[in-house]
Amino acid sequence: MANRFSDEFLAELRMRCDIEQTISSYVQLRRRGKNLVGLCPFHNEKTPSFTVYPDSQSFYCFGCGAGGEVISFIRRAENLDFTEAVRYLCDKASMVMPSEGYDDSLAQKRKRMYEINKEAARFFNSCLFTDVGKEGLEYFKSRGYKKSTITKFGMGYAPNEWRALLTHLKSKGYSYEEAYEANLANKSEKNGKVSFYDSFRNRVMVPIIDARGNVVAFGGRVLDDSKPKYINTSDTFIYKKSLGVFGLNFAKNTTDKKLILVEGYMDAITLHQHGFSNAIACLGTALTSEMAHLLSRYADEVILCYDADEAGQKATQRAIEIFKSIGMKLKVIHLSGGKDPDEIIRKYGPERFRSLIDGAANDIEFALIRLRDSFQLDTSDGKMRYLEKAAEVLAKTNNRIAQDVYAGRLAEELSISKESIMLRVEQLQKKNVRLENKNRFAQIQQRSISENNKAALSNDVNIKVIKAEQMLIGALLRNPEFYERMKSSVKSEDFSVNEHRRIFSLITEKIKQQRSLELTFFAQELDPKELDTLVRISKQHEQLVFTLSVCADCVRIMKQQKEKETKAGSSGEISDEEFAQYFHKKRNN
Ligand code: UTP
Ligand code: MN
Repeated sequence: MANRFSDEFLAELRMRCDIEQTISSYVQLRRRGKNLVGLCPFHNEKTPSFTVYPDSQSFYCFGCGAGGEVISFIRRAENLDFTEAVRYLCDKASMVMPSEGYDDSLAQKRKRMYEINKEAARFFNSCLFTDVGKEGLEYFKSRGYKKSTITKFGMGYAPNEWRALLTHLKSKGYSYEEAYEANLANKSEKNGKVSFYDSFRNRVMVPIIDARGNVVAFGGRVLDDSKPKYINTSDTFIYKKSLGVFGLNFAKNTTDKKLILVEGYMDAITLHQHGFSNAIACLGTALTSEMAHLLSRYADEVILCYDADEAGQKATQRAIEIFKSIGMKLKVIHLSGGKDPDEIIRKYGPERFRSLIDGAANDIEFALIRLRDSFQLDTSDGKMRYLEKAAEVLAKTNNRIAQDVYAGRLAEELSISKESIMLRVEQLQKKNVRLENKNRFAQIQQRSISENNKAALSNDVNIKVIKAEQMLIGALLRNPEFYERMKSSVKSEDFSVNEHRRIFSLITEKIKQQRSLELTFFAQELDPKELDTLVRISKQHEQLVFTLSVCADCVRIMKQQKEKETKAGSSGEISDEEFAQYFHKKRNN
């Protein structure tokens, strides 16, 4: 791949976009020695294994193996390609993008898809106010939505025809294929002939708008009781359902940093119409930790308000776990008198909903209330079991004050001393910490074993060869000057693992051109997965001292593998003793 940005430019960008500062706006970081740790934004975890290294301006997560530097962090966090991530950081740092020589075809494609969605939203909205859309407008009116609400959310109607939208988009210069890629059209094939037709027909339409104001997807509802009730855009180039949130474009401006999370976007719209301008909705998928992280960038607290039915309550439990795992404050609303916020507001008015919010239980209360309902508290056995479960709930929070308050309430409720409850809570807490440490250790071990096993399997090599290759790469990263003495004896073809081979040739290319081996300069040539591997190798080897003879041994192991491969393609076993001989003895020299 061509080198699109110069090292000088990337160095400047890195200097202006300090990794600690950049990541801080996504992750709460705590100092640990020279480095910082926090809960990983790329996977769900309870104890922090995400580490930021200001010295090398890099990050690595021991839990999921994600690693890189500031640009690759932004790529992942914002779901962008390399050039887009550079542009994003440039904007933040008020730097000017280099004017030419970089590939922005993906950015162009993305832009085009935003535009076609916006055009579709305009079309659906305009239909509401013509003859074809009368029924749609009637439907919205029957649900109590005002004209200003319809306009604010860009709501619309998809005509009951096969190609109403397609024809309109065509007149605006978009092809059927483009509409298909945006999920606005479906494709059918009959006798080898392909035809396209509108995805949404005879439905009222709600555009899904992301936090930056782009129309990224749609939801469409039938006007009657037929099924499926809702159709939503599935994943496209610009939209990931598991990350989709409705209403964030408005709710992100919430001044008190609280968001009300509901199940349906119709609920969210009703809430907005009645002054709850911080309402948002998930889009027919369970809450994911990715989504929770996204929300945590706009708010400190989430008020969960799922439907009153059993499914809603189960989803609430899961959501509580997820929000807690990322350290987000939480309140839970228990709906009564109606199945969802929309129904409650229509039946009793917004004041009722306001009072529900004001009286919302926090997550501990919610858990205790649900627990209490499942035990018979008039028997001592029921009491004991309730108490044990309640202590488990309290042991899960690190909030001492909350523990104290609820232990006090439990004590009163069950006529037991508060001290004995607190004692049990503390015991359980210690046990949890021990378990967590153990789990985390196992997790780290497992990760490196499983990554190496995967590499071994997919490249058909011995684990020891993999380790030798990694050690050689680690040695070169630390001691680039070794290359001069080694270059005649090792070539990239000597590597058996494809990923290692690519990394090795990149490193040697940079050494030959006397360019820096800092991580920043690898980010545009390696994809995020490869960068993970590079960072893992560099972290694993950074404490070691290398010698040329260790490197020579690595090369020997790698070449033996290659020889065995060529000889009858056998699996190339190298014994443990051989391996130990090669490394450990020599390294102590
Ligand atoms: P609900 O069925 O609770 O929707 O589904 P609602 O908001 O109360 O709908 P109304 O009031 O009858 O219009 C909640 C969410 O689940 C998803 C949608 O995102 C909806 O907003 N869903 C529901 C689907 O994706 N498909 C369906 O068929 C039903
Ligand atoms: Mn509803």
